[in-house]
Amino acid sequence: MLTKKIEHSLNAQIEHEAYASFLYLSMATWCDREGLSGCAQFLYRQSDEERDHMMRMVHYINEVGHHAVVPGIRQPPVEFESIQALFNLVYESELMVTKEINHLIDLCYKEDDHMTLNFMQWFVSEQREEEAMVRSILDKIKLVGTGPQHLYFIDQELQRINKAVQTATNKAE
Ligand code: FEO
Repeated sequence: MLTKKIEHSLNAQIEHEAYASFLYLSMATWCDREGLSGCAQFLYRQSDEERDHMMRMVHYINEVGHHAVVPGIRQPPVEFESIQALFNLVYESELMVTKEINHLIDLCYKEDDHMTLNFMQWFVSEQREEEAMVRSILDKIKLVGTGPQHLYFIDQELQRINKAVQTATNKAE
């Protein structure tokens, strides 16, 4: 049984995860258009992951006997100034989600809801991993600089990350 406040916050989190999924999908299509296939593939996968986060919330709310509410779709940006600006925005988005997750956890303590607190632990680890990954991409982008072939090298780096993720996924299956 969830308190009204927890139910409301979990439903709000569905909206945040759904927006992150749409934002990354919009970024992926922009990268596709710009010929950055490694970046596009990375962002399509991140978009799918955010949808998975949203679905975890949906199933949890329903499993504990409440009602998960599907939110309306907010329009994400469709144009990005540069690949650097795009990944800065990914990082800002992840920091915002971490803040929202922390807020939900604070609320779990206040409402004495250990069941939801336990459920939320997975999201805490996930945010740590996602923030670290995006930070490392931003570090690489900084290292590559803005020379004539920088987009090629950045895209190569994202291809390398995609391969590493694929290998890890295959091993886990
Ligand atoms: Fe589900 Fe990356 O936040």
